[in-house]
Amino acid sequence: MADDRGVTATVAAIAGAGLADYQQAAGYLADTWGCVSVRAEQQAPGLIRLRGLHRDPLLAPARVDLSGMVPASLESWWLGWAEDGSLVMVRLAEVSGTVVGGLAGFGKTMLVAHLVGQLAPSPAVQFVLIDGKGGPDYDQLFPRAWLSAKDDLTEVRDLLRRVHRLMADRQGAIAQVLGVTDAWHLGPSPSWPLVVVVIDEAHTFFHERKGTAPEVKAHNALVAELSRLVEELVRKGRNVAIQVMLLTQRATGMPSRPASATTARWPSASPPGRWMGPWPRWARRSASTLTPPRSC
Ligand SMILES: Nc1ncnc2c1ncn2[C@@H]1O[C@H](COP(=O)(O)OP(=O)(O)OP(=O)(O)O)[C@@H](O)[C@H]1O
Ligand SMILES: [Mg+2]
Repeated sequence: MADDRGVTATVAAIAGAGLADYQQAAGYLADTWGCVSVRAEQQAPGLIRLRGLHRDPLLAPARVDLSGMVPASLESWWLGWAEDGSLVMVRLAEVSGTVVGGLAGFGKTMLVAHLVGQLAPSPAVQFVLIDGKGGPDYDQLFPRAWLSAKDDLTEVRDLLRRVHRLMADRQGAIAQVLGVTDAWHLGPSPSWPLVVVVIDEAHTFFHERKGTAPEVKAHNALVAELSRLVEELVRKGRNVAIQVMLLTQRATGMPSRPASATTARWPSASPPGRWMGPWPRWARRSASTLTPPRSC
């Protein structure tokens, strides 16, 4: 089947050949079909879907005009486009947290703006925005946030304590108030909104210092509490519609508890795709973290 972007074919796998064989042959198929690329996917047992593209849609600059309308669903949000031009949606429902990793200037904060821009019109979503960089990046977004803070650790600790208290209160009240034990069974509402906790430059808050001086000990105690608060929000927040998004330049330097807890619940974005702009294939890493490598 041909369309204006390329060619799609669904083929019954020939005896003895599997998806890997078709993927290996994708380059030859692309040459034969006059395509820049061919992608092979398993559609069903024994069925391979081949998608050939005449040009790479991700190389073209893309502009997004957000509608300002209340999103039709809070089950997922729109991340960008996949290589075949289809939309890539990231699941929100039943997700306890995500980690977005990438070097400076790779678009992490812009990703938050894109997310907030889509969800902000909904009265069933509230934001907690923490910017560890402490600069002006979030100044336009803070007015929409329920709580916001920059890089003052004590202020952030106080803010996270409030969110943690909300979580504990919701856990204590959910069965009585909503009549269910998982808020996602009903979906977020203005009276029980989804709370998205964004912590940008998250490594700022989890960095312990070495030494025994009193101020070092006080700093490390603060860091330990921040770490515990985030870990518990990730571990216990999902069923009461609280979700944590950690953004960092050093995903590997994150404290193991929050990092592992969040990555463990990362949903597979399907089909995998690419964020707008030139740092492409990171969204395809549907595994555990969103990592935008500049080189792709
Ligand atoms: N999808 C995009 N398309 C085009 N330009 C983008 C896109 N995302 C980000 N940019 C631009 O790239 C620059 C860096 O983006 P951003 O501030 O989001 O990076 P970052 O990963 O948060 O960096 P840092 O770690 O330094 O905070 C910005 O000037 C932004 O306008
Ligand atoms: Mg940033």
